[in-house]
Amino acid sequence: MRYAVLGTGIVGRTIAAKLTSLGHEVVIGTRSPQVTLARTEPDAMGNPPFASWHTDHPDVVVKSFAEAAAFGETVVNTTAGAATGDVLHAAGSANLAGKVLIDIANPMDVSAGMPPTLNPVNTDSLGEQIQRSFPDARVVKTLNTMNCRVMVEPGRVAGAHNVFVSGEDDGAKKQVTELLVSFGWPEGDVIDLGGIETARGAEMLLVLWVRLYGALGHADFNFHVQGANAT
Ligand SMILES: NC(=O)c1ccc[n+]([C@@H]2O[C@H](COP(=O)([O-])OP(=O)(O)OC[C@H]3O[C@@H](n4cnc5c(N)ncnc54)[C@H](OP(=O)(O)O)[C@@H]3O)[C@@H](O)[C@H]2O)c1
Repeated sequence: MRYAVLGTGIVGRTIAAKLTSLGHEVVIGTRSPQVTLARTEPDAMGNPPFASWHTDHPDVVVKSFAEAAAFGETVVNTTAGAATGDVLHAAGSANLAGKVLIDIANPMDVSAGMPPTLNPVNTDSLGEQIQRSFPDARVVKTLNTMNCRVMVEPGRVAGAHNVFVSGEDDGAKKQVTELLVSFGWPEGDVIDLGGIETARGAEMLLVLWVRLYGALGHADFNFHVQGANAT
């Protein structure tokens, strides 16, 4: 399948590399390919500059957000939550219409420092905002509740643990579940939370995730819902 991964941070890179390794055609989207490829400094999280990653992943084509979205049969949002609205408008509603739009972003607000708060939160979510703004896109919120290395390699965490999907379109959630299975997730560990409003809970897990990261000192952990397979 042709995938557009919108976002050149560590999550976009990790998802793009995994999709390519599975034989998919992948275009990664950014504001300006020239600017992104010209960066020579590590990003704010200490990740190497994009160009050094791209040297190791030459099969991933780098394009503007709009060009990437036009290419993808399925679109993956891996951009900063505060920028997601601008990015998807740059991608263009016509390039998203009818497509499965996998939303991995979290609406982190670090304007008051760390730990982050969420915006929106409680009575709204980024997933819902995206679905409202792009009603013809088939939005599925997933994978945002864990570190990106666990997203594509669930075996990094011992034992059973879960990944959630939220969205209005059952066909889209089925397609995303098949993708998750191809990433290594046992189908029984994928929990369909329901409609896109259930993204609120999945996004609010970030607040706990950040504290667990601080307490445990590493990112190779995940949530396991004991009893999820009881029926
Ligand atoms: N790190 C994890 O393991 C993890 C786990 C779960 C969820 N998430 C979520 O996944 C998303 C991606 O995280 P990340 O750390 O890989 O990347 P990030 O630094 O949060 O976002 C990088 C992307 O956002 C774009 N961007 C940033 N500011 C922008 C602006 N003002 N206008 C337009 N685009 C802008 C960048 O565009 P350019 O390419 O043009 O620079 C880049 O593509 C976030 O929402 C994060 O909360 C992360």
